[in-house]
Amino acid sequence: MLRPLLRATYVALLLHRTRTAAQDAASTCQQIASAISDASAVFYNPDPSYLADIAHYATSSTDESVCSVEPGTAEDVGTILSILDSSQTPFGVKGGGHASNPNFSSSTGVQISMYRLNRIDYDSSTGTVAVGAGNVWDNVYSALEPYGVNVVGGRVSGIGVAGFTLGGGYSWLTNQYGLALDSVRGFELVLPNGTVTDVTESAYPDLFWGLKGGYNNYGIVTTFTLQAYPQGQVWGGQLIILGEYIDQVNVATANFAANVTDPKAQIIATYDYEEGALLAAVMLFYDAPSQPAGIFDEFLAIPALSANISTRSFLSLVQVEPTTTSESMRGFSNTVPFEEITLPLLETIVAQLEYWGAALSNSSAALLSYDVEPFLPSILTHGGPSAYPWTRDQRFLPFNMGFFWTDAQYDGDFYEAIVESSRNLTDTAVQEGQTQVPSAPLYPNYALFGTPVGSMYGESLAEMTMLKQTYDPQNVMGLTGGWKVTG
Ligand SMILES: Cc1cc2nc3c(=O)[nH]c(=O)nc-3n(C[C@H](O)[C@H](O)[C@H](O)COP(=O)(O)OP(=O)(O)OC[C@H]3O[C@@H](n4cnc5c(N)ncnc54)[C@H](O)[C@@H]3O)c2cc1C
Ligand SMILES: *[C@@H]1O[C@H](CO)[C@@H](O)[C@H](O)[C@H]1NC(C)=O
Ligand SMILES: *[C@@H]1O[C@H](CO)[C@@H](O)[C@H](O)[C@H]1NC(C)=O
Ligand SMILES: *[C@@H]1O[C@H](CO)[C@@H](O)[C@H](O)[C@H]1NC(C)=O
Ligand SMILES: *[C@@H]1O[C@H](CO)[C@@H](O)[C@H](O)[C@H]1NC(C)=O
Ligand SMILES: *[C@@H]1O[C@H](CO)[C@@H](O)[C@H](O)[C@H]1NC(C)=O
Ligand SMILES: *[C@@H]1O[C@H](CO)[C@@H](O)[C@H](O)[C@H]1NC(C)=O
Repeated sequence: MLRPLLRATYVALLLHRTRTAAQDAASTCQQIASAISDASAVFYNPDPSYLADIAHYATSSTDESVCSVEPGTAEDVGTILSILDSSQTPFGVKGGGHASNPNFSSSTGVQISMYRLNRIDYDSSTGTVAVGAGNVWDNVYSALEPYGVNVVGGRVSGIGVAGFTLGGGYSWLTNQYGLALDSVRGFELVLPNGTVTDVTESAYPDLFWGLKGGYNNYGIVTTFTLQAYPQGQVWGGQLIILGEYIDQVNVATANFAANVTDPKAQIIATYDYEEGALLAAVMLFYDAPSQPAGIFDEFLAIPALSANISTRSFLSLVQVEPTTTSESMRGFSNTVPFEEITLPLLETIVAQLEYWGAALSNSSAALLSYDVEPFLPSILTHGGPSAYPWTRDQRFLPFNMGFFWTDAQYDGDFYEAIVESSRNLTDTAVQEGQTQVPSAPLYPNYALFGTPVGSMYGESLAEMTMLKQTYDPQNVMGLTGGWKVTG
């Protein structure tokens, strides 16, 4: 028998433990609201700010949190983290909200939205730009345009600076300057214990390395200092091509991938299956006001349903109207790290698209999209060591598979299908001699949840785990989702 006082304590403890998570988070929200400065604010459902804070590109990545908080200073981020730690409240950290994995940047506890940290300060004396972690790339391109400079960022509209950069970042400028993370000169980081730190290659070489691929494992980044590069008008845009001409798209894409060596030239060949039909949306890019003869001729010779191609600003190219829209749909992505893009591989990609398109089209408005992204063999020579990719001996191509649907009851079907299709394409690549594909680094910004972290971080994982023990011994960042190096 427990003595009365002890029993009372025991009962109180039990009651404490069985209080619902929502009640706990509600009091955490109040605690945060009373501790943060006027620069920051807490919101509740259905405040429009709350709804914007929890929103994601894929609705399956949105969770209804108990409250959202928009920190306006790095110090407030530290205060918030300390409260979340002491109350052990689950939280999500959102930049642009483009994560295609559930709860990577959302939570049923507290949603942190970096939205207010939106500075974009170009320093012409250092040739760098300080970019707040709440920005999307559109804002950055727009702000830099008057200075005639640009940064290595996203290729379509709406992507967040934070997740994109912390996970890698394949850009229209990658052939010339490397990944987005190769352009980072410094991070302002709020450590898991709430301390605001400036991470640079000289001040914290270990964290500088680990943040390049390590997302939220070591704290919350509030500002990225990025290298700026000269930028003028560009040439390019989008071609929409009907399924009957898909063979010509395959040939043009294989030839471009094998033959084009000009680092200013790039394409994304997207193969879509929507409403029973196959089509291609090909983005063409050249980093000058006009294209040199020859490079894109094969694409331009294919009869197009529509073409939106011109000399334009970088921002205008990034904002070319998408024809297929996946907004307000559930969505998962996955990836296969190809060594090269060949014609037989493209033919299998199309066959897979048709197979899964038909198999899944009974499951609530399926849209399937496979993005073929050729890059030069030299792209990893533009930067130093980073947690991702764990080897720079050879570059692998970040092929993206995107599956979208509307009804949550089919989540499991789409998960299995995208895994199955990536397995087919991995096996296909191996059969044609791409033997390193099964052990190559998977791109963490495209990989499907459930993928072992070792498949992305490989030989970096041991060092990343040590970093985690050094900077987050209490596992504060274990309260939030994402690719976790321990746990
Ligand atoms: C339509 C579309 C187009 C895309 N195009 C490209 C492309 O061209 N090239 C490419 O490389 N990738 C592309 N991606 C993938 C994209 O890079 C990832 O989805 C990326 O993670 C998005 O960043 P975000 O800030 O929008 O995401 P979020 O969902 O906000 O965050 C993603 C992850 O980063 C973490 N995180 C966010 N902010 C911080 C912070 N301040 N500190 C620490 N951790 C943080 C989150 O917790 C989460 O784990 C695309 C995705 C979509 C949906
Ligand atoms: C995150 O989502 C995945 C997939 O739905 C689930 O398995 C996992 O338990 C979730 N984690 C948290 C912390 O909610
Ligand atoms: C590369 O270019 C040559 C000459 O134009 C062409 O014959 C060839 O098919 C192209 N593609 C590949 C994969 O070599
Ligand atoms: C072409 O893309 C631009 C965005 O860059 C858009 O404003 C314009 O409406 C598009 N034109 C057509 C004909 O779709
Ligand atoms: C991949 O799928 C295609 C059909 O989409 C099939 O013809 C091929 O045999 C499969 N390949 C492998 C290696 O499983
Ligand atoms: C859709 O079709 C697939 C394959 O034919 C089948 O496995 C699945 O159960 C079907 N789903 C529904 C909801 O009918
Ligand atoms: C927070 O962590 C950093 C890095 O481990 C350490 O230098 C600093 O002293 C810690 N601050 C506090 C207040 O514990």
